[in-house]
Amino acid sequence: MFNALRLQPADKILALIQMFKADLRADKIDLGVGVYKDPAGLTPVMRAVKQAERQLIEVETTKTYTALAGEPEFHRLMAELVLGPIFDQPRLSAIATPGGTGALRQGFEMIKLASPTAKVWLSNPTWPNHPSILRFLGIEMREYRYFDVASGGVDIAGMLSDLSQVKAGDVVLLHGCCHNPTGANLTMAQWADVVKVLNDRGAIPFVDLAYQGFGDGLDQDAQATRLIASTCPEVLIAASCSKNFGIYRERTGILMAMGDVGSQSVVQGNLAFLNRQNYSFPPDHGARLVTMILADPSLRQSWQSELEEVRQTMLGLRQNLAEALRTATNSDRFDFITTHRGMFSRLGVSSDIVEALRVQNGIYMVGDSRLNIAGLNAKTVPILAQAVAGLLRG
Ligand code: LMR
Repeated sequence: MFNALRLQPADKILALIQMFKADLRADKIDLGVGVYKDPAGLTPVMRAVKQAERQLIEVETTKTYTALAGEPEFHRLMAELVLGPIFDQPRLSAIATPGGTGALRQGFEMIKLASPTAKVWLSNPTWPNHPSILRFLGIEMREYRYFDVASGGVDIAGMLSDLSQVKAGDVVLLHGCCHNPTGANLTMAQWADVVKVLNDRGAIPFVDLAYQGFGDGLDQDAQATRLIASTCPEVLIAASCSKNFGIYRERTGILMAMGDVGSQSVVQGNLAFLNRQNYSFPPDHGARLVTMILADPSLRQSWQSELEEVRQTMLGLRQNLAEALRTATNSDRFDFITTHRGMFSRLGVSSDIVEALRVQNGIYMVGDSRLNIAGLNAKTVPILAQAVAGLLRG
């Protein structure tokens, strides 16, 4: 049997991690995988998470199974965080999942279960694991235009035009904030136009919300998701706690489905069924920490202020990088970096330059020139700017 296996295509982002590890240069710079690093280059455990872990050791009396769908308190607190004032419990079904990727996977499986011929529309470009999982599940995909290379912004005309081709019942995957890989995001007025097209076409939005709190703030980053959830009849939302709680390896996420109140119990039952089929019970440790933090005013306050520090650090790095590139290239070509939000920006340089940055300068970024802003610091910003400018001069 094993002889029949063929090598699988390497995940481009994960392959970079291996290449970076294997590079022996002391001054190498990792701008690849989306992991937050503080100015010292560390990915710290957030203060509230550490404190919640200490408390948990004291109060936890059992490691028996949780509910199949995960704990209702986790669902409620996460729904409040994501949906805020529009949180409408009777419409909501939810399951805890292993990370945001687990939530996406369960959502795609539910689409397959409910509507086997539905196509899933993806932004071009998108996070490479979106098409990879869809392909693996045999779900048909389409692309909608998203990024305008010339301006570094969103190609809203192209996006709306492509979305107007969506068939009723098709699913449109949207990055709720902090678009990965481009960093370019829609304004709320543009979101309203997108939602109108989706509703006119009878499409079902599926929001991937992996970076809430990394862009413009916790509530601001959820605004588009809230607009979608309050105006579309059926909505899927995959929310990740990996980045905003810094608990990457705990695999903590949630899939939410909002539809008619009348269908809620069947939807909830199907989501729990999918958990049972795929891994039985969802991981609990991270979800429990998130629940404790969100429920306790002092832990929550500590978490929010540290998250805000993280966000401000990234905004500062954006400003510094844009200025350094302006000086080094003597042009405003990269000014768009300050308008981007989240961990990533797509620089818009060629794959040859990306490769040369890696080979000559030990600077690692994804082949499409996506760089992790949070991988930079005061020392590496000018190094990157000089290297990019040097290669552009040729
Ligand atoms: C990324 O895009 O770098 C992150 O979402 C990490 C991952 O799993 O790819």
